[in-house]
Amino acid sequence: MKLLAIESSCDDTAAAVVEDGREILSSIVASQVERHAVFGGVVPEIASRMHIEAISGVVTTALEKAGYSLFDIDGVAVTHTPGLIGALLVGVNYAKGLALGANLPLIPVHHLRSHIAANYLTHRELAPPFLSLVVSGGHSHIIEVRDYTRFKVIGRTRDDAAGETLDKVARTLGLPYPGGLNLDREARGGDKSAYKFPHPKVSTGAYDFSFSGLKTAAVNAIHNASQKNEGINIADFGASFIASVVDFLSGNTESAANDLGYKKIVLAGGVSANSVLRERMKKICKRNGWELYMPELSLCGDNAAMVGSQGYFEFLRGNTADMSLNARASMEIG
Ligand code: KG4
Ligand code: ZN
Repeated sequence: MKLLAIESSCDDTAAAVVEDGREILSSIVASQVERHAVFGGVVPEIASRMHIEAISGVVTTALEKAGYSLFDIDGVAVTHTPGLIGALLVGVNYAKGLALGANLPLIPVHHLRSHIAANYLTHRELAPPFLSLVVSGGHSHIIEVRDYTRFKVIGRTRDDAAGETLDKVARTLGLPYPGGLNLDREARGGDKSAYKFPHPKVSTGAYDFSFSGLKTAAVNAIHNASQKNEGINIADFGASFIASVVDFLSGNTESAANDLGYKKIVLAGGVSANSVLRERMKKICKRNGWELYMPELSLCGDNAAMVGSQGYFEFLRGNTADMSLNARASMEIG
């Protein structure tokens, strides 16, 4: 089954053709990064307008690269939640038009489900059940993936997401957007014990996260240093801060897997590209004798191939939509 997939939940306009949920026939991502970089973050209004400008060309190119016309396609999958509402609406409306015009099934896909599905493309043998750490710009969840379309969130952030926290600290250090990625690069080779950050505590919810205290401590440290005209060593500061974030993410994931008996761990979301998180999870899984799955780097961030993968499994479950499909800014994963 060949699906045309569309993703426009944030600042990437993406389309892909994916076969049977596992094989990428084409994947096109038009990034808006340069346009938002001058503002230090995504401007929703600009994102919506840029999606409108890009979507037609991106979809056409994805079909061309795959060597198919719309009439060779068996369904249209689209991210409909969660994300920036104006941005999502562009993709949803375009997908509805294509599905209606070509008389194809329309398959709505949850963005976090698709981030997890990026792993089905990288690791063709991977199948649920497993435990997933999903870390993106807007979410930090530990999720029991019981089946391709059944999920239970067992840990979540009480305040800021991990990606959002890394972006904010990177920006305060003067690094360009997207901060998480640039902080990862700048921090390589830095001394992770050079700066100390408080160990965040969450009183309820054994696997929950809280990043706002850590973020405030880091931002205050940067401001204090600049007021005293003291320099900050960006590599050391970045390495120390990333280590604190990764300690928290990996520690809760290890506890959850131990308590619940999961031996398969799956990373997902933009922050799963982080080099320190990847290395740490490798160590933890090796120590415990667990299998670790991570998306290849090109599939960690937003793309439509992952939507085409998850869309296939949604279709098999009968999860299609009619022309009343709407976008939603937020929705639980399961
Ligand atoms: O999944 P994603 O592309 O978009 C959302 O769904 O939010 O995640 C974006 C987040 C941003 O916060 C970005 O800074 C972060 O992923 N990110 C990274 C790295 N690459 C992207 N964070 C840490 N290290 C990276 N290498
Ligand atoms: Zn995402």
